Amino acid sequence: MADTKLIEQAIKASQFAYVPYSHFPVGAALVTGDGQVFSGCNIENAAYPLTNCAERTAIFKAISEGVTDFKELVVYGKTDKPISPCGACRQVMAEFFEQDLPVTLVAKDQSTVVMTVKELLPYSFTDLN
Ligand code: THU
Repeated sequence: MADTKLIEQAIKASQFAYVPYSHFPVGAALVTGDGQVFSGCNIENAAYPLTNCAERTAIFKAISEGVTDFKELVVYGKTDKPISPCGACRQVMAEFFEQDLPVTLVAKDQSTVVMTVKELLPYSFTDLN
């Protein structure tokens, strides 16, 4: 399980969420191979499909800075049960993370579930399979 500090970073990231439509803030904290942390929040748009989830914000921030080696991801949502990432984010995780990378999903009471990328998206589509 992710340490408390990392969970706190995901919670802090959720405070920057731009969610005037759903009022549902989500935060993510992505740890790189060398121990850096990229955080992310969800960012919505009046044209709803343009919304970017917290997970993809964190991943794209890291990729856009040249980082490709990742250790773990924490995702926090104000949910009763640990938050469940959307399909688009699972596919993006499968693109950039190792299949066994641990993803810690955190609920509003800070209970957690840890799943690997492969568990979140089994039999995923990869480069032409
Ligand atoms: N959302 C995330 O950011 N991550 C998830 O894992 C689930 C959903 C966002 C998208 C949208 O801004 C809001 O939560 C409601 O769906």
